[in-house]
Order: sequence, then C-alpha cells, then structure tokens
Amino acid sequence: MARLIEHPCVQHKLAIVRNAETGHKRFRELSREITQFICYEALQNIRTKEVMVETPVGPATCRMIDTDLVVIPILRAGVGMLDGILELVPTARVGFVGLYRDEDTKQPVTYYERLPPQIEGGTCIVIDPMIATGGSTVAALDLLKEHGARNVVVICIVTCPEGIEAVEAVHPDVRIYAAAIDEKLNDKKYIVPGLGDAGDRLFGTSHV
Ligand code: PRP
Ligand code: URA
Repeated sequence: MARLIEHPCVQHKLAIVRNAETGHKRFRELSREITQFICYEALQNIRTKEVMVETPVGPATCRMIDTDLVVIPILRAGVGMLDGILELVPTARVGFVGLYRDEDTKQPVTYYERLPPQIEGGTCIVIDPMIATGGSTVAALDLLKEHGARNVVVICIVTCPEGIEAVEAVHPDVRIYAAAIDEKLNDKKYIVPGLGDAGDRLFGTSHV
C-alpha cells in the first residue's frame, strides 16, 4: 500500500527538487527536508511509553518513543535522505544496503550490506528517493526479511504505479510513503516526469 504525502510544504519543496535547474546543494537540502516531513507521517503510529517528567512547576505525564528504529538507506541515493530522519529520531540505528541498477538489464546488483544486529523487534525504515521498477526496493526488503525484519516501511520521494505494484506483489505488508506517485516509466525505466537520476543530482555526478 502506498501513502501519498500531499501537504503543501512537501509539494512546494518537491516542485523545486524536480526542476532541472536546481543544483546539487539545494537538491540535497530539499531531499533532507522532504524526507523529514514524510518520516513524520510514517512514524505516526509507532509505540510510545508513558514517562513522568518534572517540569519547573510539577510532575507531567508525558510520552516518549519506545520503538527500536532502524534506518536503512539504499546506497547511494538513500544517503541523501538519512540526515533528515536522524534529526527527527536521533537515537535510530542505521544499516546500509548498497545496490545499483545495472544499466542494461535494469536489475538491481547488491554490492554492500551492513545491518545492525537484532532488527527483528524494531521498525525498519528503508529510504531511497526513487522507486522506479521497484527492483532495488524489493531486493533491499528481501535482505531485511532474511535478517528477520518484520515491521518495515519504505520512504521515497517519487515513485510510480509500476514500482508500487512490484513491491506490493512481493511484500504486501510493507507500506510505501511518497511525496509523488508519477505517471509511468520511460523506455530507460526512468520515472516520468520524476526528477532524473537522484544519485547524480544529489552528489553532482551528472555528466550532461
Ligand atoms: C536509483 C535509485 C534506486 C533505483 C530505483 O539508484 O536511487 O535505488 O535507482 O530504480 P528501480 O526501482 O528500478 O530499482 P541507482 O541504481 O541509480 O544507484 P545510485 O543510487 O548509486 O545512483
Ligand atoms: N533511478 C533514478 O535515480 N531515477 C529514476 O527515475 C529511476 C531510477
């Protein structure tokens, strides 16, 4: 299931991120900000616990997060979303999955994995700005579940119906949160209109 975050603050930032004229510094800043807003929504129902806090005036019954959060950026572009989440939940643990899409086959190739131990009791948050064919997300989710993950959400910036269907077909329990669900993929399996190559735009590695 996919949830679209339509808040005007998110959509305003997304418009700037999509613009081909936006340079990598601004692209990075906005990716971080958009991710933070989406994560805020995605974590709405995580477990909290009651705590007593002494204010200067007296005891207050408060609630604090009581969930082991594990953030998993898909390298490389997912790294551009990590700081936004860690600003929101600074005690989250972080694992990494390195995947790239083979330029010819468009299939994901795994080149790195480093997950924290004992992720099965927590909530895993997979981050990647783009879910296009869905292949990279499915590969990351497969890996997480092999390591015992049971409660997983995916946060992306832009996706499309094909990507959502591919993830849902294999991992129907995983909710996707996105700032945009675009129309389609082009013949190079890029999202249209999308925002281009997210990794290149984040890190200034575009050669065009
Ligand atoms: C991009 C993006 C996703 C993937 C999406 O990464 O960040 O990981 O493509 O495509 P898919 O849904 O069809 O798998 P890319 O492979 O370009 O690697 P990068 O992050 O290193 O640039
Ligand atoms: N990867 C990207 O970075 N952008 C797309 O549109 C598709 C895959």
